[in-house]
Amino acid sequence: MTRPNTHAVHRDWDKEFPVITRAEGVYLYDSTGKRYIDGSGGSSVVTSIGHGVVEVSDAMAAQAKDFSFYPAHAFSNQPMLDLADLVVSLAPGDLRDHSRVWFACTGTDANDDAARLARQYWVESGKPSKYQVIGRWQGFHGNAISVAGLSGITGRRSIFSPMFIDSPHIQPAFCYRCPFEKTYPECGLLCARSLETLIRQEGPDNVAAFIAEPVVGAALGSVPAPEGYFQVIREICDRYNVLFIADEVMTGWGRTGTLWGIEHWGVTPDIVTSAKGITGGYTPLSAVIAREEIWGVLEEHHSPFKAGHTLNANAVSCSGALVVIRYILEHGLVENARERGEQVKQGLRALMPGHPIIGDVRGMGLMVGFELVKDRATKEPYPPSLRLSRLLELAALKRGLVTYPCAGSVEGALGNMMLLAPPLVITAGQIEDICAILDDSLREVEADPRLKA
Ligand SMILES: Cc1ncc(COP(=O)(O)O)c(C=O)c1O
Repeated sequence: MTRPNTHAVHRDWDKEFPVITRAEGVYLYDSTGKRYIDGSGGSSVVTSIGHGVVEVSDAMAAQAKDFSFYPAHAFSNQPMLDLADLVVSLAPGDLRDHSRVWFACTGTDANDDAARLARQYWVESGKPSKYQVIGRWQGFHGNAISVAGLSGITGRRSIFSPMFIDSPHIQPAFCYRCPFEKTYPECGLLCARSLETLIRQEGPDNVAAFIAEPVVGAALGSVPAPEGYFQVIREICDRYNVLFIADEVMTGWGRTGTLWGIEHWGVTPDIVTSAKGITGGYTPLSAVIAREEIWGVLEEHHSPFKAGHTLNANAVSCSGALVVIRYILEHGLVENARERGEQVKQGLRALMPGHPIIGDVRGMGLMVGFELVKDRATKEPYPPSLRLSRLLELAALKRGLVTYPCAGSVEGALGNMMLLAPPLVITAGQIEDICAILDDSLREVEADPRLKA
């Protein structure tokens, strides 16, 4: 295969990457003029307000004319101050008007900083033995060596695992393939209660925090925890003095049909991380929102937060985020995510009788996933060598639909899922287009002789 762009490294060696030249609403256009529906909201679950909203680029350009970078060790900047006020006024649960925000660049930074904050808080609180952050298998929190260790994506961990720090994991909350082979609600939420077992095994004096995504994104193909799960997690964390970090990098800012994913469970985390939808992909920015008392302990001890990257809280990024968040609220996008998300799930379920390879449809709001199986009754997956989700991704891309292929629902090693998370501005007609393209694409993939082998 000829590679036109030879100096830039892309995410795959074995396929062409069309060059995007323009984007508007839910559509991307490549250099040949071909149009694609941004069905996964970027890579992935990013493009909250859609592409090409001029209010965002105008605000960022105006700020860039004044200044964009500032020496953060010596100064503050007004867009950051305004953004912190806005974020705190919208924070979930008891964090609303009772938290402070630290701004970073990416979701990975935010989760790394959340782990640092938990550790620093316990050290300054006189409990310096507390250092471990418990994660979940098939969770994802970012790609730095530190947070990759908290994550539980087997495929992405394997090469680097000797370099990870000591982060224990519990099983995911995944009813379709329950790791305990139980059925909800008779299971008594064993998946949540296993956190208590692990904390006791590790020793509560060693555990600083537990981190989880309210709806697992890329690692499981949009799997919400069952009702009651985070209530049990909250109660266990409180009992053992463990901070609860909600990774809302994907689920924040309306994506799941509420402003924050964790609101579906009605509990308040101690720390919330946010990225992606906060700027809708217009510019890099992330945030760590933490309880006032946590920052208060650091302040009391005159202990500056020991984190920070050169480009954190960039004024241009903060001015863009201000417009994006207001746009979400003013255009009713949280409600649209709820309504259109139901339509996506109904559309996918309507495809199931004609496409036996769809084993499960799941998700919340406009964060929807479906799993591909060899046998719907037994849930047997196709062999990983087939790279089935990638085959479907390419079939859809050919027809002008971007989807996000995921793998590893079965013990991190097997299983194929697709993630759909179009911009929250999507219309009913555009969702019908997505379902029609998927229908054709599934038919093409199902006809592949390798699936019969
Ligand atoms: C839940 C979750 N947390 C963290 C991250 C890392 O964010 P970033 O890619 O901005 O570093 C991701 C990225 O996909 C994510 O899905």
